[in-house]
Amino acid sequence: MSVIIEEKFIILNTKNTTYQMAVNENNYLAHLYYGARLDDSVALERGKLNYHSGATLAYDGKSRELSPDVCPLEYSAYGSGDFRTTPLKARFADGSSVCDLRFESAKLLNKKPVLRGLPALHDEGKVSQTVEVCLKDKIYDLRVYLLYTVFEEQDVISRSVRVENHTGEEIILESVLSACLDNYEDEYDFISFTGRPHFERFLQRTSLGDFRLVTESRRGASGHQANPFVIFCSRGCDEKAGECYGASLVYSGNFTASLEKTQIGTSRFVMGINPENFAFILKNGEVFQAPEVIHSYSRSGFSKLSHNYHNVIRQHLFRGKYALAERPILINNWEATYFNFTAEKLLAIAKQAQKIGADTFVLDDGWFKGRNGDASSLGDWFVDEEKLGCKLSDLISDVNALGMRFGLWFEPECVSENSDLYRAHPEWVLNAPSRPGMLGRKQWVLDMANGDVVDAIFGMMSDILDNNNIEYVKWDFNRYLTDVYSTALPANRQGEAHHRYVLGVYDLLERITTRYPNLLIEGCASGGGRFDCGMLYYSPQYWTSDNTDPMNRLDIQYGTSFCYPVISMGAHVTASPNHVTRRDTPIKTRSNVAMAGTYGFELDLTTLSDDEITTLAEETRFYKNHSELIRLGDYYRITKNDGRYIGWQFVSKDKKTSLAVLVQKITNINYKPIIQKFEGLIPDMQYRVTVDGECREQLYSGTALMEIGIGIRTIKYEADSTRVEIEAVN
Ligand code: DGJ
Repeated sequence: MSVIIEEKFIILNTKNTTYQMAVNENNYLAHLYYGARLDDSVALERGKLNYHSGATLAYDGKSRELSPDVCPLEYSAYGSGDFRTTPLKARFADGSSVCDLRFESAKLLNKKPVLRGLPALHDEGKVSQTVEVCLKDKIYDLRVYLLYTVFEEQDVISRSVRVENHTGEEIILESVLSACLDNYEDEYDFISFTGRPHFERFLQRTSLGDFRLVTESRRGASGHQANPFVIFCSRGCDEKAGECYGASLVYSGNFTASLEKTQIGTSRFVMGINPENFAFILKNGEVFQAPEVIHSYSRSGFSKLSHNYHNVIRQHLFRGKYALAERPILINNWEATYFNFTAEKLLAIAKQAQKIGADTFVLDDGWFKGRNGDASSLGDWFVDEEKLGCKLSDLISDVNALGMRFGLWFEPECVSENSDLYRAHPEWVLNAPSRPGMLGRKQWVLDMANGDVVDAIFGMMSDILDNNNIEYVKWDFNRYLTDVYSTALPANRQGEAHHRYVLGVYDLLERITTRYPNLLIEGCASGGGRFDCGMLYYSPQYWTSDNTDPMNRLDIQYGTSFCYPVISMGAHVTASPNHVTRRDTPIKTRSNVAMAGTYGFELDLTTLSDDEITTLAEETRFYKNHSELIRLGDYYRITKNDGRYIGWQFVSKDKKTSLAVLVQKITNINYKPIIQKFEGLIPDMQYRVTVDGECREQLYSGTALMEIGIGIRTIKYEADSTRVEIEAVN
């Protein structure tokens, strides 16, 4: 049974985990347990043992142990004795913000409800079990519905919160976080994925002390600087051993995630929309739906935790034709030409791309009216035929004649000051009254909280998509939100603008994905600035970073891989020296690193030698032969990321086929040889091993490969890389 509601206990079971809560004597919904799977009777027994917890001053109720100050709670509100970070803060019509949530009811739903206006995990019509718990304020009729859905196979529990106002009057929601997870332990490390443009999602690990650790965004987008995925784990937790909890917010705007230690040595984790710059008015009878958090737990280290996320994202977040399907191999013209191109030049690149096996040509920024640099034209989504030298449909026909698909770049959420759209509708951008406002990359952010703006952009985009055979869209977003004020909202509702902006973006994405179900959207935000589960719901791949130097990409892709499957990471072979770092890297390493992603190309192929074209054609063939393994297999990080080389490995679900890649990070001379161990194989299976195309004579057992490893002599100098293919022989 994945869900048990018995007496006062609610138990959620996945294959390897159990989550347990109970209604205590004070009628709080207490959190009891989240960890390794317990059998049902042990779970109930453990619940009873844990029924009382903590001991301090009694602020309420029958015993000190049940005080809201210390009792582990599933959810709580500001102002009534819980002094930890409280997920809910509501201001009532009388000006008070004291709220005291107690248990009302719990029911089982045999489906996962859709979260109105928000992306969320889906259950593909299969019956998944959801528990809906209702908490209610003791005095006013404010109801908080907690929804928990069990994804049994993936060891995932998703959770969201719906607030309903039945108080008879208007209230203001000042904070509605989506997750609150109290733990008996406090000896944790907190892992966040922070960075900056060109260096996204670097893993940061900090030990929890007597304080609160926070990672968050206030930029209007989840951003380059922080990612809405975090882990907290036992102190020694590594890839293969230790306890770890993950939380991924399915949301693309301002967020917060924090872990705090309490006075009594327990801890609280919370996550959700950042309450800063958030105040949402709810009239009587209205409902607020907060985004979903995807929780997972592993007692055997980060590898297993990552597999859980990769599996659930592939199977229950991605939608549409490309969810699990082979992805196109792209040639993108951005780093080949930037804004400087004609159709003739683009076609020349496409012809070379066809020779190397790319199957989709993507025309990036610069194809629309007067766009020859980044200072103008965003918002005027009309083809610049003069610049192209032909109609867009003619270029597409020529590309299609090569047997290739065609893709196009848009930046739907922004508008240049120098554009017809801005001249016609200056009130359509986010900007506070009487202020000059702030351009970013010489552009304004459109007010996506305004339905008229969403309609207008949808109209222009569909005009292009209806009239041209476009099978891929790159959806870019190149600045953060400043001057957040929407002319579509009254003065007292400006605290809703940030969230309504995100809802408007989701609305536009939903309308586009519904109207063009076969379109593949790749998200992008100045590289990987909004790489999150919210965007991945609409765009099952995301441009990982504008830093295309493979040596820097090693770190970026490493951090990204903790939550996101490699098939979501846009990765291309680019020129050497690299345009961002000027570093030279061998073609093979550029290719190997791009293969830990969607694989594609982004360089001027017309300037390559015949040898280079031949090499890239061979690389593409290799990728195609392994694309299912890379796309759907289990991904292991087989080295730490602090040493002289880094490695990763894909293993097929039946454990019979595997591919590993090792890249030398720093030159290594007169040092011990590399002996690399592998993961995920069948111990008593015999495997054939091929290193860089050279098949080793001897066969190796799975145990030997996993416990002893093999010597690798093919990498030594910085940026060398090697491939190890492992194939079962019986
Ligand atoms: C930022 C993206 O990350 C790049 O790949 C490229 O599309 C440019 N924008 C175009 O302006």
